[in-house]
This record gives sequence, structure tokens and C-alpha cells, in this order.
Amino acid sequence: MKSMKSIRNHFLIFSFSYFLILPPLLAAAQQPTRPELQWFQDAKLGIFIHWGIYSVNGVGESWSFHNKALPHAEYMKQITGFTASKYDPAAWADLIRRSGAKYAVITTKHHDGVALYDTKLKPGKERRPLSVVERSPAKRDVIAPFFAELRKRDLKCGAYFSLIDWSDADYPGFLRDSSRYAIKDDPARWQRFLRFNEGQITEIADQLRPDLWWFDGDWEHSAEEWEAPKIRALILDKDPKAIINGRLQGFGDYATPEQNIPVETPKTPAWELCMTIGSDWGWQPHDTLYKSMHDLIAIFADVIGHGGNLLLDIGPKEDGSIPPGQVKVLEGFGQWTGKHAEAIYGTRAGLPNGHFFGPTTLSADSTALYLFLANGMTGSVEIKGLDNQILSAELLGTGQALQHRVVGKIGWSKVPGLVFIDVPAQPTDPWMDVVKVKLDGPVRLYRGEGGFN
Ligand code: GLC
Repeated sequence: MKSMKSIRNHFLIFSFSYFLILPPLLAAAQQPTRPELQWFQDAKLGIFIHWGIYSVNGVGESWSFHNKALPHAEYMKQITGFTASKYDPAAWADLIRRSGAKYAVITTKHHDGVALYDTKLKPGKERRPLSVVERSPAKRDVIAPFFAELRKRDLKCGAYFSLIDWSDADYPGFLRDSSRYAIKDDPARWQRFLRFNEGQITEIADQLRPDLWWFDGDWEHSAEEWEAPKIRALILDKDPKAIINGRLQGFGDYATPEQNIPVETPKTPAWELCMTIGSDWGWQPHDTLYKSMHDLIAIFADVIGHGGNLLLDIGPKEDGSIPPGQVKVLEGFGQWTGKHAEAIYGTRAGLPNGHFFGPTTLSADSTALYLFLANGMTGSVEIKGLDNQILSAELLGTGQALQHRVVGKIGWSKVPGLVFIDVPAQPTDPWMDVVKVKLDGPVRLYRGEGGFN
């Protein structure tokens, strides 16, 4: 106990220093960066999948009963309608690969406690496991075959796992305005839940071997209550290469802002914006107003320009079919990411805000600068404070060479001139053109206030 407390204090100090300079949302990932995160930081695009019994009637995932839109019992009845009758994990994995995503994260268990993998553990007062294997007409583990198909295509496998389990009689939280008990009044009951929780994490580690763990719901308890260091240690003991998202009360590897796009480059070494295509995570019939392809690509370029990943969510129906509008979005991503791959994968955050009026990325050695012509920039685009010679500029994916000129360079001043690059008078890509600028060496920037020197 004592040692756990001191570990925790150590990380609290660490997180506090982040907290001073970051909004709380981004202060979530507090572990020092590990080399194991490299694939993740190079990946840029992941696909999030919220699939569960909530897609039977198309109600809000878990939150619908928690917030009392319908009774818990009625919500749970949906399990008898979860068929996975059209589920084709190979087709899912193909679609994800075609989108240009390098990893997928799927719900192995949401806050409703229903496992989509083959758990053998019985929650609280239950006599059998609460899973789609045991209790739904699907009668099978739907995660393992999906991971197998992802792996065949060299895609990384992420397991979303909710720490919150509102259906477990041993878990304190239940409905928005009622809980079962307080931990301090019944620590033994909480311990029972923790052993169950730990047991499921162990099962997932053994059966599914996720490359990435995507915890959720840590906000209901402290690191000490969750025994977060123990969870982290358990995962890394089994697989030292596994990476863990930031929703483990300070014991994760990267930050997970949700729906909200950062304006400044987050200070956390790695981060991932998770976002819905429409407004909901899981399938809901009313959720048909999707973000446009233009807006999604603009968001994606903005995210990678600030060194992050986009984890774009889809919500399949109970039968395993993916809504056609979401398939179309993934295909659209494929078209754009394929053409602009060089400006995306393996790049680093681009120029700090202010040098260019759109997102930018840099090659890993920072000798190539990629300009994302946001909002259909045409004519001539400007770069400020670039202290490199430009060797060449081209419209990426087309081979078209672009002219550039440097204006306003004063011979006796250290301040670089303004670079203007002539881009086509009409955008050539349906969503966003990208310009590749080859520099004479690693990027050098002037960040001053102008004036005499
Ligand atoms: C949330 C919600 C949830 C969703 C998730 C995705 O905080 O609780 O329903 O699964 O985030 O990021």
C-alpha cells in the first residue's frame, strides 16, 4: 500500500507540472514517452468501433440507461437481439486498411458491462458471464476474429475496455442519481469488483493480445481506488510493447481529447483525438447528419499538423453491417490518404501556429515541409519565418512542379524573407491539396518580432 501511494505521488507531481500549462483534458497522459509509442505516433489515423447491444434498438451506448432514458432491464433485453448475422470481420479489416488507418480500436466491453469477447468471469450476483457469447443469438466472440483479420493486414489491434461497469452488482455506480454503495462503507465488495476487473483485463491480454489498450471511464474513481499502477504493470508484464491510452488516472501513455480539437499543439508527447462521424459513438437511427468529407479531412490535417492522431469512430448495426454513409467516409479517407501518404505517415508536427495559414507537417528528418491548403487556398500561399533555401515545391500526388519566390529579404537582416508559392488557381483535389516543399536541410525557423534584426 505504502509503495503504491508513493508511486502515485510521484506521478501526481509529474502531472501537476503539465497541468500548469495544459487544459485538463490534455493533461491526461503522464507517463514518460516510451519508444513503443513510435508506431502509434507514425500511424496518424485509427478507426474506433463502438459495437454493442445498444445497436439493437439504436439507443445511446450505456448512457441511455444510466441517464434513465430507458430502464436498465429494458436496455439489457437488447442482448437477445444481437445477432451479428452479417458480420464479416475480413470485410471490416479490408475497409479499415483501405481507409489508410493503421490501427483499429474496438469496444470489448462498454460501461454496460456486456463483453463482446469470450469472458469466463461472472460479474457480481450473476450465475454466468455477461457476454454476447453466452447470452446473445450471435453466440460467439466477435473480437478475436476481427483482431485476426487486422493482423493479417498488418494493422494494429486496440481493445477499448470500460473500467466502469454499471451492470455489475459489485460496482458502486449505477444510475445518474443513484449508486449501490460507497467504497468506504464496503471495501470488501469493491475488492471483489477489482478482482473481477483485473480478471477481465487478464483474459483480454491472454486471449486477444492487444497492441493498444483504450481504457474509458477512469473519472469515476481515483488511481488508488482503481489500483491503476497494478493494471498498468499487469498489462506491461504480459506484453512490454503494449501501449495504453491516457484514461487510467495518470498511468497511460498518451492523451485522448474527445471531440474537442486542440488549438495549440498539445504539450503531451503523444495524443489522439477521438471523434464521431455523426454525433453518436454507437449506431443510432437518428444519427444521420454526418460531418462532410471536406470537414473531416480539414480536421484530420489539423490534427496531424499538431502531431496527433485521429481516431475516427464508426458504429455498426447489431447485425454487423456498417452504415453505408460511414463506409463512404472511410473510402473517402482512403482516396485522400493514399494520394498524400508521404505528407501523413511517419511525419511530425509541422510549423508552430503563425508561419502558415493552414496545417503543416514535417518529414521525420524535417527536410521536407508539407503544406495543407486548407479551405481551398488558391493562387499564391505564403510562409513566414522560414530560414531555409527551398530546393523545390510540388503539388503532392500529381508531380506538378510549383514556382516559388522570396520577397522582402533585407540583405543585412537575419530575418528571412517571405516565401510565396504559386499553387493552382483552382483546387485540384476534391477535399484538400497538399504541397511538398523540399528544404536545403533540417527546418530552421525565425520566430521573432521583426524589427531591425
Ligand atoms: C466517453 C463515453 C463513451 C464513449 C467514449 C469514446 O467518454 O463515456 O460513451 O465510448 O467516451 O471516447
